[in-house]
Amino acid sequence: MTYIDDAHGDGVLGEAGRGITSHFHIENRVDVEMGTFSKAFGCVGGYVVGSKTLCTYLQNKVRSYLLSGSQPPAVPGACIAAIQLVQRTPGLVKKLWDNTRYFKKGLKDLGFDTGNSETPITPVMVGESGKAHKLADSMFKLGVFVLPIVYPMVAKDKARIRTIVTSAHTRRDLDQAISAFEKAGKELSLI
Ligand SMILES: Cc1ncc(COP(=O)(O)O)c(C=O)c1O
Repeated sequence: MTYIDDAHGDGVLGEAGRGITSHFHIENRVDVEMGTFSKAFGCVGGYVVGSKTLCTYLQNKVRSYLLSGSQPPAVPGACIAAIQLVQRTPGLVKKLWDNTRYFKKGLKDLGFDTGNSETPITPVMVGESGKAHKLADSMFKLGVFVLPIVYPMVAKDKARIRTIVTSAHTRRDLDQAISAFEKAGKELSLI
């Protein structure tokens, strides 16, 4: 069976942000697909798509269906509105990718190692965990909030700052972040 977790693909990859199955043209070859509304859609909650038997099984077995209060109506309302916004505004996904290319190029041109990412999630490789924390602190002082990803989330010598741009960022925002990385990166002798 093929099971896809498209937490990072929905609203980002494929035709009009339809996700990774659209990106790889495998829409009819997946048995189970799940995704979350907490990333590109900026809400909370998620979905599972599969056979009727699978969905009935989940409704009767999964912990969050059985023992937790359900989401208040405003939450699915916000999720539906966010999905409709992406569907009705095709420019949003295009802007996300334009911003992504611009930001990745800006960092690479400065000499940063941005790893192998092919999505808007762009790591800035640092190496030591302590240095990644210092870089995040310096960036915060320069007005840019970024998070360090350190061991045990990644290997001991592969600490990094994980960044992501959105379609809402302006070129001015991205230039500000790139210059902050330049300043902080030079201070820490990363570039
Ligand atoms: C690949 C992947 N799947 C699922 C999830 C869970 O999403 P949520 O926090 O909306 O439950 C995440 C969250 O980081 C994720 O990265």
